[in-house]
Amino acid sequence: MAPVDELLQAQLQLARWTVAARRLVIFTGAGISTESGIPDFRGPQGVWTQLDPRQFDFQAYLADPELRRQRWQVYRDGGLGANAQPNAAHFAVAELVQLGLVDCVITQNVDGLHARAGVPEDRLLEIHGSNRFAKCLSCWKRYPREETLRWESDPAAGVPLCPACGGLMKSGGVSFGEPMPPDETREAIRRARAADLFLVIGSSLVVYPAAALPGYAVERGARLVIVNLSPTPLDHLAALVVRAKAGEFLPGVVAAVKQLRGAA
Ligand code: APR
Repeated sequence: MAPVDELLQAQLQLARWTVAARRLVIFTGAGISTESGIPDFRGPQGVWTQLDPRQFDFQAYLADPELRRQRWQVYRDGGLGANAQPNAAHFAVAELVQLGLVDCVITQNVDGLHARAGVPEDRLLEIHGSNRFAKCLSCWKRYPREETLRWESDPAAGVPLCPACGGLMKSGGVSFGEPMPPDETREAIRRARAADLFLVIGSSLVVYPAAALPGYAVERGARLVIVNLSPTPLDHLAALVVRAKAGEFLPGVVAAVKQLRGAA
């Protein structure tokens, strides 16, 4: 963790860039939700240090009714973030959006905490899907979570079947090997390419194609800032790297932004 005065300088620097930016895109990963009690994937207590990622593989889901039954039960129980609440980092991001300073928030997280913190749907791109809906794996129709919780599972399939086409249902989160939602992904690339300030919060930046987004922004001349507790492969591209907890660092950025705007 960086010394306090370094963090204060970084908060002021990021606040200045935020106020001056034409198009700020915020990109988040599991690290923004750890202070809500949701483990990340590759940090010291990350999920992949305890669970076998193959459990989450898309092909395994298609092939194994028992795995589908287990995964559907996890979805029904609410998944990793069942009772999690947005933390100070989510609220800081939402406040920057409400101040009109953010073009969009692109998140890899499926926990729905950005929406719950107040980021409006039209400013949020959930490129790894979300556990707030389930989808059919044949027609890709999406159904709100609350509606799907009432559905009975087909005994042979292990999960409910799509009411529209009879296809297998799956939670809205994207698994390894599963295609990413095309509309959200296309839009995220467009927004990254149009950004002049690209802020990464809590991502190891090792999972593609999501991890390509900061590079798209930098290619077009955007300034990159990375707030992450551990090093990432893109740190060398960043104008500023902050080794701090997002929930402790970002509120100070919002306070500095408000001061700068108040002073203006
Ligand atoms: N503040 C800042 N950074 C944090 C915090 C925190 N409070 N807590 C953890 N981190 C950092 C960790 O050091 C780690 O580098 O956040 C990063 C989280 O990285 P990952 O666990 O790899 O999560 P993410 O980058 O979102 O993973 C991408 O991989 O498993 C798939 O689909 C899954 O969307 C996920 C994708």
